[in-house]
Amino acid sequence: METKQSLTITDNRTGKQYDLPIENETIKAKDLLQIKVKPDDFGIMTYDPAYMATASCKSTITFIDGDRGILQYRGYPIEQLAEKCSYLEVAYLLMTGELPNKTQLDEWTASVTTHTFVHENVKKLMDGFHHDAHPMGMFVSTLAALSTFYPTAKRIHDPAERRLTFYRLIGKVPTIAAFAYRHSVGMPYVHPDNELSYAGNFLSMMYKIAEPKYKPNPVLERALDVLFILHADHEQNCSTSAMRSVGSSHVDPYSAAAAAAAALYGPLHGGANEAVLRMLDEIGTLDKIPAFIKEVKEGKGRLMGFGHRVYKNYDPRASIIKRLADQVFEVTGRNPKLDIALELERIALQDDYFVKRKLYPNVDFYSGLIYQAMKFPVDMFPVLFAIGRMSGWLSQWEEMLLDGDQKISRPRQVFLGHGKREVPMLSQRA
Ligand code: CMC
Repeated sequence: METKQSLTITDNRTGKQYDLPIENETIKAKDLLQIKVKPDDFGIMTYDPAYMATASCKSTITFIDGDRGILQYRGYPIEQLAEKCSYLEVAYLLMTGELPNKTQLDEWTASVTTHTFVHENVKKLMDGFHHDAHPMGMFVSTLAALSTFYPTAKRIHDPAERRLTFYRLIGKVPTIAAFAYRHSVGMPYVHPDNELSYAGNFLSMMYKIAEPKYKPNPVLERALDVLFILHADHEQNCSTSAMRSVGSSHVDPYSAAAAAAAALYGPLHGGANEAVLRMLDEIGTLDKIPAFIKEVKEGKGRLMGFGHRVYKNYDPRASIIKRLADQVFEVTGRNPKLDIALELERIALQDDYFVKRKLYPNVDFYSGLIYQAMKFPVDMFPVLFAIGRMSGWLSQWEEMLLDGDQKISRPRQVFLGHGKREVPMLSQRA
């Protein structure tokens, strides 16, 4: 017998029954609006702060099975992409839906690479920041400023214009990120070296000093590229939702990307790996771990780098990063904080508090240790995340734009405030 794909709801206020179709394991929230007591009622809404159980879009980009610890981009497991592909291949995959062949990859790489330079006035703009400005603040502002350099990006319905914006944004984010760093340490900006790989060029712009040509260490170059892959997309997270929501007003993609980057700046999102290192520093020595865990369990703080809205199992990106850390530490020497991190993980994975709440290491638990070993200052961590995530933001933004179901984002509210009141004169107010 064929199962009926619908949900029957009885409104006990009226005794009426409603049959709502189920598609893709979801009902349409708008179908609930027909459930009313009086004809002029608005209808039943769902209350779902933070979108805990509400799908805001249909997507074909990234699949996550949080209970089983699975992450796939366009159907390909993250483990295989991290092993067999470069970041630029993955960015192409996210944007087009398919992995590039050799010719497509060459063209794509050339197009991104020819857009790595920024206008001289972008440099002047960045010079205007205070010497100790947080690089993520500089990054967010410079992304927004780019919209003024490329006003034709407003033509968001022109596929060629969108493509150009993809080249520009993916090409320029490493440059802006490196310039933000160089500004903060008072070093001259290093121009992009278009003979190097995406990650290699970024390392060159970060660390080149007087040598005529910077030669990135191949292990570190590959590790960074893999980290960009692991951060490239993660379905409807906070920053991607910001990209889609702001983009739904049809603002240009530079402004929407600035909003997404701003969302990523927060400690509960892209700032978490920075918070992990600060936490490891605070703990300091192995013997302090039990007291720290006790405080977390008493609600006096969180074990940063643990827990995830979607993963209720080991974050697959964390496993890859843990392995990557060994390769990086062979080159850079072992980060002494690793011992504290490993012990924290060991204790937390056995502790009832964390087990019961399904709190496992997430992508940020070990990434900070690698970044630090590669000499990235802690302030740069969210910026590194943003470089990798740009391809995901842009793919999700374009998917939103081409989705006929989408409109300007505009959530509803449950109003619990005052009824109508008369405004008293200032002298009459208590
Ligand atoms: N340490 C201690 N307790 C935690 C933690 C943690 N890291 N995360 C969640 N909990 C507890 C929380 O107190 C709550 O307990 P109770 O049910 O007793 O009130 C329960 O677990 C559920 O937590 P929640 O806050 O309702 O879960 P959420 O889905 O809203 O939060 C999270 C997800 C990632 C914001 C949260 O786990 C957290 O704050 N983790 C630390 C920050 C972090 O590592 N963020 C990086 C996320 S991964 C990178 C990214 O995608 O941006």
